[in-house]
Amino acid sequence: VQRRPDASTEPVVAIDGPSGSGKSTVARAVADRLGLRYLDTGAMYRALTWLALEKGVDLTRPHAIVDAVACATLEPGTDPVEPRVSVDGHDVTAAIRSREVTNAVSAVSAVPEVRAQLLAVQRDIIGAGDIVVEGRDIGTTVAPRACVKVFLTASTEARASRRQREESELGADTGLDVTLHEITRRDARDSSRAASPLTRAEDATELDSTEMTIEDVVVRVLSLCREAGMVPGEQAPS
Ligand code: DC
Repeated sequence: VQRRPDASTEPVVAIDGPSGSGKSTVARAVADRLGLRYLDTGAMYRALTWLALEKGVDLTRPHAIVDAVACATLEPGTDPVEPRVSVDGHDVTAAIRSREVTNAVSAVSAVPEVRAQLLAVQRDIIGAGDIVVEGRDIGTTVAPRACVKVFLTASTEARASRRQREESELGADTGLDVTLHEITRRDARDSSRAASPLTRAEDATELDSTEMTIEDVVVRVLSLCREAGMVPGEQAPS
């Protein structure tokens, strides 16, 4: 059965899953190959976290977080080849990948007011679609009518070793045990928070990437996109 964008769906590819599941690499590759825009919603939460840390906010106080970030001007880029993000005029593309931001982001992303603020920006950017959006709540909350929904998983060990490899490429030398502990703690917080937690949308296709190469996953997602009519030059029937 072919699912094509029609009145009940929008031309959006939603890719959700826990950290280290390969979402970013897959989402960027799919967007690049289909000539679509790309939105990294995690980078948006990270940018506001960077701002809160920069302002010295006590992250145990949700109201203080809201006060610090509510008026921020967030500008996420949508180029899958070179995604950039800036907040209040600062390009924080590199800074948001620090361990400090990574370990603080769950506290910021759990605040309902922050989520509502970013939801509005995300929906504005998504607009009429033609975009691949990655995050934790895209298929459930941000774009529930997305015509392709993927929930990407991998074993905790596989995700921790991928994350550790990325971090050592950035010059951080953390042991696998520490990374495993941090990833488990962040997953638990992201999945258990009250506001829009990480959950699989009922109509999402779950892909376990533990034993798959990135290219295998990209090929699977591209075939889901094709079935949904999201192929360049192919028009959805009206
Ligand atoms: O994908 P990432 O690791 O860059 O995401 C950073 C954090 O932001 C992650 O801990 C969960 C949160 N997040 C979220 O709550 N909702 C999203 N749509 C995307 C990310």
